[in-house]
Amino acid sequence: MDKINLKIDGIQVSVPKGTTILQAAKEYKVNIPTLCFMQGVHEPGSCRICVVEVEGWRGLQPACVTKVEEGIVVKTAGKLVRETRKELLELILANHNRECLSCARNQKCELQKLAEDFGVSSVSYEKKAARAEMDEWGPIVRDSSKCILCGRCVSICSNTQKVNAIEIAQRGAHTTVTTPYEEALSGRSCINCGQCIKICPVGALQERDDSDKVWSALEDPELHVVVQTAPAVRVALGEEFGLPVGINVRGKMVTALRRLGFDKVFDTTFSADLTIMEEGTELLQRIQQGGKLPLITSCSPGWVKFCEHNFTDFLDNLSSCKSPQQMFGAVAKSYYPQKAGLDPKKIFVVSVMPCTAKKYEADREEMMVQGRKDVDAVITTRELAKMIKQAGINFNDLEDSEYDELLGTSTGAGVIFANTGGVMEAALRTVADILTGQDLEAIEYSAVRGFEGIKEATVHIDGLEIKAAVVHGTGNAAQLLDRIREGTANYHFIEVMGCPGGCINGGGQPILMDKSRTQEVNRLRAAGIYALDRQAVKRKSHENPEIKKIYEEYLEKPGSHRSHELLHTHYVARS
Ligand code: SF4
Ligand code: FES
Repeated sequence: MDKINLKIDGIQVSVPKGTTILQAAKEYKVNIPTLCFMQGVHEPGSCRICVVEVEGWRGLQPACVTKVEEGIVVKTAGKLVRETRKELLELILANHNRECLSCARNQKCELQKLAEDFGVSSVSYEKKAARAEMDEWGPIVRDSSKCILCGRCVSICSNTQKVNAIEIAQRGAHTTVTTPYEEALSGRSCINCGQCIKICPVGALQERDDSDKVWSALEDPELHVVVQTAPAVRVALGEEFGLPVGINVRGKMVTALRRLGFDKVFDTTFSADLTIMEEGTELLQRIQQGGKLPLITSCSPGWVKFCEHNFTDFLDNLSSCKSPQQMFGAVAKSYYPQKAGLDPKKIFVVSVMPCTAKKYEADREEMMVQGRKDVDAVITTRELAKMIKQAGINFNDLEDSEYDELLGTSTGAGVIFANTGGVMEAALRTVADILTGQDLEAIEYSAVRGFEGIKEATVHIDGLEIKAAVVHGTGNAAQLLDRIREGTANYHFIEVMGCPGGCINGGGQPILMDKSRTQEVNRLRAAGIYALDRQAVKRKSHENPEIKKIYEEYLEKPGSHRSHELLHTHYVARS
């Protein structure tokens, strides 16, 4: 490969042709600040914070989009560069709501950090235009007064996720990021995945804060408050307390939840196993009895809403199974109070999820059982971290403790739901044992692991061929379903996760200040999940003793009348 030789801040650098100055600098550990740039997602070269000097070239160059050339000499932090960056920051700050202390992104804001790094102590420019302020009607809250018009959210929503719920409108001083027809985000095709929140450099996008609702329930002596924690939360929550990425903090998290006052602390991995029992049965029935194929998973509420808007011809392909969050809520308000001798009306169910779309899912009418919601409040990993901090709990010093029994026993299969490919692998473990009538030892399906956008595998079990596909990110899902529509692809079973990378990279997970680390962080969180699977005593959903018990004592068998009443749902076409 052709190499280009150049100098950056006096360092002799040699990089492949086509490399940008920013990439070359990064490779040689020279840090150039960026603001609008997100590699592979959004590369407009518009904010100019990354400008550098190139000897002999006219004007400053944006390092993120300028390609290296043989023999050039680059200065990344000379006086002119520093002053220009400071002035640009002042201009951006002039139009930014600077109520940093009360912003959810205080100390996790890229603009705040740059302002500090470049010594911006006052802003001498006038505000140019007033922008519409709050859109706070749904799970995702937009505060346009904080938007710096970088455009990252528009790119991830339109290009990566193919949702197109937000766009850049108008020009010049009136430029704004808004929704089509300026309607509330929640009123449109937004799937609430929250990827825009994670990519936003400032606090212009946030999840609706439901922690007050949870505090009120915890302080209500009439209520019996139970909590479930999704698998992806345990390998990410530690980051909020400065612990290494991907480290498993399950035991500390359970202790913290008890300290917050929850009456019972349960695990969504239990209901992930329940989902596998129901969904595995549905898959076998559809294959063996000629039902609608491919069966497509429905655990990801962002994906389900995307399908309801854009692929209504596939609604019958969606599994009728509720997601693990909803299945948990349904049994926590029926089976659990019956066993514990409690009044079901007094049970308040809280979910801790890596996902902002789970807030929407909990409110869906189609999820209700006899007019009753399965889940009363959903908080994200970030909101839980805030609650722990508000309670003055020293998280890192906590002892480990175990989940409560009845709805708290996990298997490796339930845990791997956090990773893309996890639902498929968990389902195959159970389906393979059912079809062969054996306790198979080869249970790791490596073909469905990893971060490739679309993964395919053909599995042969006891004479039955199962063609499977796994996709993550709704943009990849759209691509796959288009291929099925065209007749160029054909499967029995498809797993779709709405967020790129699956739940470990959900819209409710900790915010990364350095977004270029996203893939590395996803890999570490995924590795943490697979390590938990390997350590698990039981690694198959049907071997979970609490799952066996709930079928023996209450549900009878997968697909039973009661299962259908509590654990299954339906979908609606949306415009
Ligand atoms: Fe950028 Fe955030 Fe504004 Fe979107 S909302 S344009 S990500 S600052
Ligand atoms: Fe290079 Fe914005 S980061 S122009």
